Amino acid sequence: MPDDYFEEEEFQTQFNGKTFKRILSLIVPHIKWVIGFLVTIALVSAMDAIFTYLSKQIIDLGIMQQNAQALVQIMVIYASVQVIQAGGVFSFVYLAGILGERVRYDLRRQMFNHLQSLSLSYYSKTPVGWIMSRVTSDSERVADLVTWGLVDSTWAVMNILTSMIFMVIINWRLALIVFATLPIMFILAMEFRKRILGEYRQTRRMNSKIVGAFNENISGVRVVKALGREKGNLEEFKLLTDEMYRHSYRASWLSALFLPTVQLTAAIALGAIVWYGGYQAESGAITIGGISAFAAYVTSMMWPIQDLARVFSDMQQAIASAERMFSLIDARPEISDHPRAIDPGSIRGDIIFDHVTFAYDNDEPVLEDFSLHVRRGETIALVGPTGGGKSTIVNLLCRFYEPQSGRIFIGGRDYTTLSQLAIQSRIGVVLQTPHLFSGNIRENIRYGRLDASDEEVIAAAQLVGAYDFIMRFSRQFDEEVGEGGNLLSVGQKQLISLARAILSNPEVFVMDEATSSVDTLTEALIQKGMENLLARCTSFVIAHRLSTIKKANRILVIEQGRIAEMGTHQELLHLRGKYYQLYTKQFRHQMEEAFDPFAEKNETVSKEAA
Ligand SMILES: Nc1ncnc2c1ncn2[C@@H]1O[C@H](COP(=O)(O)OP(=O)(O)OP(=O)(O)O)[C@@H](O)[C@H]1O
Ligand SMILES: [Mg+2]
Repeated sequence: MPDDYFEEEEFQTQFNGKTFKRILSLIVPHIKWVIGFLVTIALVSAMDAIFTYLSKQIIDLGIMQQNAQALVQIMVIYASVQVIQAGGVFSFVYLAGILGERVRYDLRRQMFNHLQSLSLSYYSKTPVGWIMSRVTSDSERVADLVTWGLVDSTWAVMNILTSMIFMVIINWRLALIVFATLPIMFILAMEFRKRILGEYRQTRRMNSKIVGAFNENISGVRVVKALGREKGNLEEFKLLTDEMYRHSYRASWLSALFLPTVQLTAAIALGAIVWYGGYQAESGAITIGGISAFAAYVTSMMWPIQDLARVFSDMQQAIASAERMFSLIDARPEISDHPRAIDPGSIRGDIIFDHVTFAYDNDEPVLEDFSLHVRRGETIALVGPTGGGKSTIVNLLCRFYEPQSGRIFIGGRDYTTLSQLAIQSRIGVVLQTPHLFSGNIRENIRYGRLDASDEEVIAAAQLVGAYDFIMRFSRQFDEEVGEGGNLLSVGQKQLISLARAILSNPEVFVMDEATSSVDTLTEALIQKGMENLLARCTSFVIAHRLSTIKKANRILVIEQGRIAEMGTHQELLHLRGKYYQLYTKQFRHQMEEAFDPFAEKNETVSKEAA
């Protein structure tokens, strides 16, 4: 995967108006709050400028002219402005906080819904890490822009504007001198920001590489040790940390230089004020209070200018974030329900693959002109070499993918005329790689049918032989399974997935290596327990362990996407073809390993095989 695949892509250097408009549209539903806080911020920043003006009046009227009455009046106004401002600050921080939360909530909900609708093919093409970054950091950045970015920029613009107005009121000539320095300060601030950000971005990029290296080394620690790769890995790691150090060193250096430089520019403006102001004061064109107010305005304007520069570069980053986030939101599911798709209430009936051709990525088809007619209630076993296409066949059946050509009929209907829910809710699937959700065992089994009673959950666990090991846990059915079920063994996860699928009362049952990691004794028990269910449903069973599928109505040997052989266990053994070879080889292997928990059973098998 390219390094910049995650979030470290170069941020958009040009301004993208379309994306910006779309970002703004996020706040439209909450426009009341937005207007509320914008007005409050405008008020607060106007108050700021008024303070400085009032302090000028205090000096000029109260102190210089010893006017006690004026002093009291000004102090009363000063205090009232202070109170209004405090109330204003409280309101806008509160309102912006609420707005941010709402926008974040909207975005997350929209993405979550959308992610559920996307087809499996999207997930096999897109790394989970990429999706997670869109959902977390990108949505965060966009929500921050439309709240705090808006707050900061409104505050900054209002502050600069009101300060400018008061400066013009006090002395317009001096004001013009100050205005001339503003663009210089802004450009300086922007330039520094850009460079510092560039270094930080490199630091972050290195950091994700380092985190990745840690991650791989920790999760693959066994392999690293087994292959003696410790030293090599350490060297690679050192290169990464060295480079990260260089970039963060430069970032610190630039950050340290930034403030003094801006302050120096401000100092030039201040010098001009003192010099020109002092000169004008003689003629009475400006008072001492006026000069001090000017100095205060210049110093206080440094912050809004830096804020503006920051918001500006944050905005560019947020636009890049938004573009990635919208690309996720705009991804169309490859499989979607036909507008007139129906739910027939039941999908019982024959299942037909009619000249189906399918490829995952428009390359070599995995299945080509594949046809199969399965009668209602049949149990079909799929066997054959790794990569032959067995899982692909059931993926198509479950409509996780759709064929590029040919048709699939379920219960007499072309399955593209049915809704996905109608199909998927009636097919019980146990996948090759079992997945559990964090939560306890009971919740995981009940995920198959949310209204199932505790008794039904227990019965399903008993049916698949999971009951005993569950009862051995200290918290039994309430035992937590951990993220992805990683506190359980693979075999235990398989049994729970099986119980979950059974609980959903499926009409079609699909088991893809569902019991491959379960010991043979338990597997035999499961088979016995499931006989009834298999008799009721049309079932597809994929297994490498051939002892498990002998009872299937038909066994299909799948090789390179084709049916190489088809028949019952007996028929295929008599044929002495591929199945016979697979079976006898596996059987001999078992005998050689003297791993034979079913001595009696195997004896009969060997007679059959002979
Ligand atoms: N998500 C995918 N994207 C692209 N190609 C895939 C994908 N899944 C499987 N394939 C390819 O399709 C072919 C058939 O794979 P499939 O998983 O159906 O084999 P299988 O018979 O189930 O094998 P196994 O016994 O190992 O489970 C393989 O060549 C594989 O590389
Ligand atoms: Mg498979």
